[in-house]
Amino acid sequence: MKLQSLEINYTEYESLSELSNDDAFLIAKAREASNNAWAPYSNFFVGAAIMLDNGEVVLGNNQENAASPTGLCAERVALFAANANFPDQALETIAISATNKNGLVEEAVKPCGSCRQAILESEIRFEKPIRLLLDGSKQILLVEGVRNLLPLSFGKDSL
Ligand code: THU
Repeated sequence: MKLQSLEINYTEYESLSELSNDDAFLIAKAREASNNAWAPYSNFFVGAAIMLDNGEVVLGNNQENAASPTGLCAERVALFAANANFPDQALETIAISATNKNGLVEEAVKPCGSCRQAILESEIRFEKPIRLLLDGSKQILLVEGVRNLLPLSFGKDSL
């Protein structure tokens, strides 16, 4: 028996002004995308903006449904659109932003488990870690690679 431990790493920023221009731009795009979410049931409006290696930006937002499991998170809407339309382009960064009834969430928004798994699939597909920018009014987190959010992950090598 051996006790093991894993370390995850991320950077915390206090405001947009601390980010590079490219990262601040992508967060602004994610905020913009959240305005077009269809979220009449949760009133939690999420936007995602993906920067591809070729400089294209692909947006997504959560799409809810009266039959709730039918809807989809913003991250996967953007991710699947990116992979469907630019199948040869690796993903460089995904920015995620969310508002609730009080406006922009205070704590950085974290992707759900299923989205983490979907992001991992693209990392493996393009053999490149994807940067995640998680937006909030009190903090913005930069995570360099989704494995930081999904340790001990299940991927194609597990099959
Ligand atoms: N949601 C996202 O779009 N992304 C997340 O990272 C967390 C949750 C959506 C799903 C649902 O439409 C609403 O937010 C409430 O869970």
